[in-house]
Amino acid sequence: MTQRRFAGHEATLEDGETVLLIDRKRRRYLVDLEAGGEFHYHGGAVAHDDIIGRSEGALVRSAKNTQLRVFRPTAADWTVKAPRGAQVVYPKDQALIVGLTDIRPGMTVVEAGAGSGALTCALLDAVGSHGRVISFEVRDDHADVAERNVARRRGDVTDRWTLLRADVTSGLAGIACHRIVLDLLEPWEVAKAAATALYPGGLVCAYTPTVPQVMRLHDAFAEDERWGDAETVEALLRPWNVAGLSVRPTHRMVAHTAFLTIARRLPEPVPDSV
Ligand SMILES: C[S@@+](CC[C@H](N)C(=O)[O-])C[C@H]1O[C@@H](n2cnc3c(N)ncnc32)[C@H](O)[C@@H]1O
Repeated sequence: MTQRRFAGHEATLEDGETVLLIDRKRRRYLVDLEAGGEFHYHGGAVAHDDIIGRSEGALVRSAKNTQLRVFRPTAADWTVKAPRGAQVVYPKDQALIVGLTDIRPGMTVVEAGAGSGALTCALLDAVGSHGRVISFEVRDDHADVAERNVARRRGDVTDRWTLLRADVTSGLAGIACHRIVLDLLEPWEVAKAAATALYPGGLVCAYTPTVPQVMRLHDAFAEDERWGDAETVEALLRPWNVAGLSVRPTHRMVAHTAFLTIARRLPEPVPDSV
């Protein structure tokens, strides 16, 4: 398997890779290449052998003579098309999480919950081959999906990824890390354990869709002297239609995904002297 190959890799497409097929109406299909296999869609059947050995960007034809272009999928393609157990963090937010919390190669990053493993892949890329990601997931069915998606996208990453099928609130005991990313319903329940696990100066980032969640989280940070510099941001990504003279924002967009609330771990408070 060569799942670690990225879009734009110099090698031609190989048996065992996952590719993205795009039809003339820009509909997208993820296909696992298998010698002798066929991909069937409304435009007919496409032989995998007609894709294997080709370059990315090549045009392939179905038995009904419809055309599709073939590429290696980007993170955005995977996020939208891969099977999911839970709602995923989209690339615009994945990028902001990594960027705003300054996740770098070599770091140890804790994530909860793993869900469908979409954010996990972004975190694994950010920490690189010398870093480590520890993911918590309470639901076995979601953990199974995360495990499958990460293996499909990144191959064997057991040397740097640990998936713990446990509650992060109790599971953080004994872990020391540089960053914690929370995508779960009640992140404020994790605030105390997260402060204990993070090194001073480390950052936590919670991804929450609603305003009451943001308020509860800020309350939890305010109640614990080990947190400071808390802020909440939101990113809106507006696609544009560019066709001839019709250059304008698209009529529809995913206007809201979630708020990102980020706080820094402060040193332990010094007790008042008597
Ligand atoms: C929205 S999903 C996460 C999606 C994931 N970030 C992705 O991009 O694919 C939230 C997940 O958190 C898990 N979860 C909720 N509370 C948890 C906890 N206390 N500890 C660990 N996992 C938890 C849920 O089972 C669910 O799978």
